[in-house]
Amino acid sequence: MSINYSERIPNNVDLATDRALQRALEHWQPKFLDWWQEMGPSDFAQADVYLRTAVGVDAQGWASYGAVKMPDYRWGIFLADPVVDRTIGFGDHLGEPVWQQVPGEFRSQFRRIIVTQGDTEPASVEQQHLLGRTCPSLYDLRNLFQVNVEEGRHLWAMVYLLHAYFGRDGREEAEELLTRHSGDVDKPRILGTFNEPISDWLSFFMFTYFTDRDGKFQLKSLAESAFDPLSRTCRFMLTEEAHHMFVGETGVGRIVKRTLEVMKQIGSDDPQAVRAQGAIDLPTIQRYMNFWFTSSLDLFGSEVSSNAASSFATGIKGRPDESQYADHVCTEAVYELETPQGRESVSLRNAMNEVMRASYIKDCEIGVKRWNMQIQRAGYEFRLALPSPRFRRSIGAWANVPTNVQGSAISNEEHAHSLPAWLPSAEDRSFIRSLMQCVVEPGKIAGWIAPPDRGINNLPVEYEYVRLR
Ligand SMILES: [Fe+2]
Ligand SMILES: [Fe+2]
Repeated sequence: MSINYSERIPNNVDLATDRALQRALEHWQPKFLDWWQEMGPSDFAQADVYLRTAVGVDAQGWASYGAVKMPDYRWGIFLADPVVDRTIGFGDHLGEPVWQQVPGEFRSQFRRIIVTQGDTEPASVEQQHLLGRTCPSLYDLRNLFQVNVEEGRHLWAMVYLLHAYFGRDGREEAEELLTRHSGDVDKPRILGTFNEPISDWLSFFMFTYFTDRDGKFQLKSLAESAFDPLSRTCRFMLTEEAHHMFVGETGVGRIVKRTLEVMKQIGSDDPQAVRAQGAIDLPTIQRYMNFWFTSSLDLFGSEVSSNAASSFATGIKGRPDESQYADHVCTEAVYELETPQGRESVSLRNAMNEVMRASYIKDCEIGVKRWNMQIQRAGYEFRLALPSPRFRRSIGAWANVPTNVQGSAISNEEHAHSLPAWLPSAEDRSFIRSLMQCVVEPGKIAGWIAPPDRGINNLPVEYEYVRLR
């Protein structure tokens, strides 16, 4: 199915055949653009950015590259092609045909899940609002903007579902998605991590590595949904999401690379000596990792959740890559949990959040292993490590339980005393901020990060990915 770009809202959902829906979305569009103007990337509205835009949802069409001014980006509604005769893959309705409409009895549950997912998309754009001012290179600036426009499109994806399938309630929710703002005291974004400021590029790379990866797992579980339009929407979003995590993984990897170069040059791994050369010492990278990883873990919710059980039972939300499991009904199976009170057996359906979190953690480990390989090859003993999922949790069985980074219980006093050393301190943050200088000369790069191995779409690294006016 190709995408019609002659319409005001590019789409592959035959929007023109549903006049009421088209009008409602065209009514929302200027509000979105106002929001983008105010809350989206600052300063670069006049710049030509080398961005990819989807012109089709297949392998050839989804990434067509060209110079675009961000306010002119064609945000549209794109669903992955339908799977012929698709049936429900899990839960009480296993094997039945998927739904093209939302069953009345599941309406509010579906709406809540779509709104919660939708809320994270503009939230991240708001969090990254000022980052362009301190970009380490034009290549990185372009990647930031690519992520931003795609998060904007993900908002469109959720708003389309709200408008098309949830009537007046859905339209109201779509408005609300533009009125909550990241970090706003009165109307914050729904989920905690999306209210944390991202005021430097180390945080940005941690966010795209850890928090966009939460997005990947949420989208994977919604791609399993019995509600087919939601499934198709999320399948297409996943193709875009991969780049966001690539930005995070290579971003952190390039910082580590630069740090190792400096350590070699000065013949020391002393953090102060590394910092004196304008690079980021490895322990600071570890502390930023501790912060963003633990914050992202909370996004999966409580270990034991009747909501998660009911979403699985009804077919709303499956497990990421549901086909990897043998049992898709899970009424008999149990899951062994480690709680502060000891081992606990719970019904697998009630532990679906924990199942998701466990696959997320496994996925997080892959990049950490790569970063550690770099450190090992450079001949240093230091290793980065994900903290225990019990550490610094705010949600679930381990919420507010004092543990060390390895997850062992410690006293409140010891916790209060040690915590500052495990998380970015005010001094760390001000040091990182001091490194953030805008580098926008083609081919130049800031001193705290190594250049990328290759450019975008086979172009050279030095290519002028953003043309400033
Ligand atoms: Fe997204
Ligand atoms: Fe993303």
